[in-house]
Amino acid sequence: MQDDRLISSSLREEDVKNEYSLRPHFLAEYIGQDAVKEHMQIYIEAAKSRGESLDHALLYGPPGLGKTTLAGIIANEMGVSLRVTSGPAITHAGDLAALLTNLSPGDVLFIDEIHRLNPNVEEVLYPAMEDFALDIIIGKGPGARSIRLDLPKFTLVGATTRLGMLSSPLRDRFGIKEQLELYSPEDLKEIIVRSADILKIEIDEDGALEIASRSRGTPRIANRLLRRVRDYSQVRGEGVIDVETAQEALNMLKIDELGLDAVDRRMLVAMIEIFKGGPVGLDTIAAYTGEDAGTVEDVYEPYLLKLGFLARTSRGRIVLPDAYRHLEYPVPQQPTQAQQMKLEV
Ligand code: ADE
Repeated sequence: MQDDRLISSSLREEDVKNEYSLRPHFLAEYIGQDAVKEHMQIYIEAAKSRGESLDHALLYGPPGLGKTTLAGIIANEMGVSLRVTSGPAITHAGDLAALLTNLSPGDVLFIDEIHRLNPNVEEVLYPAMEDFALDIIIGKGPGARSIRLDLPKFTLVGATTRLGMLSSPLRDRFGIKEQLELYSPEDLKEIIVRSADILKIEIDEDGALEIASRSRGTPRIANRLLRRVRDYSQVRGEGVIDVETAQEALNMLKIDELGLDAVDRRMLVAMIEIFKGGPVGLDTIAAYTGEDAGTVEDVYEPYLLKLGFLARTSRGRIVLPDAYRHLEYPVPQQPTQAQQMKLEV
């Protein structure tokens, strides 16, 4: 499915080079995620003072929050090189072996979407992570034998949007596990001001906060919207992005005050009007949005859950009163099936 919604937190082609120029390089430049930052600062300083490589680290949370950025920061702070790959890109055990044998001591190997690693590849990763060794089978049948190849001590940084889809042997081999959370509008405002400064875009504080409030807690979306608002401001505005320009531009793009787009609204309206507030199964929701179920769950739903517009129950998703209010529907007075379900869970 082509994921072309402007408020999608999935990586789009336009983001690739844009994000690169905006990425912070050191922890001190990284805005938000205070708990993760504090933990990482301690682990990094401790590893450096012992002269060791950093423990393997697993970063998990919704897309677009800066997992790749953080891997780059870890490498910079440790003063080592970063190698970047992803679960689906490593199709054969031999591909991983090649990557691992080319690392220098202390290097960071970043595997994005690590939950999508092929099980055969995962098998190779276990001894590599645990003993810094590769077990290579030579020959076939009864004459086959295994030799062990030593690897440099490296740090694996794995990233996933789905902690639950990681096998437990893999999960257990990470000494450091950090969850990234959606950003507050205040943190996103700071990120937008920083990005605007790098891109030489003039924006005032209120203009930045307006974009931030509509960016679904996600820096990737904030940076994308900043560019779209800049275009609007250049043509229709006075050059400086203020709150009015930001509102006009984002209203034109049909992104509302909370960052919902037409597809979110269509989905919530269907849940309210057709399904009386739910529970509605994920596949049904996916059909109404034209996305696949995994994308709804990983990309769009986290923000709606955080807003308190939806809740997950064992029988599906239900719409909560704040969503009715936002969409200007009367909040049901009789306890709906949805509200009763909420009481059950
Ligand atoms: N750009 C994207 N994410 C960022 C963050 N957390 N801090 C600073 N700049 C960013």
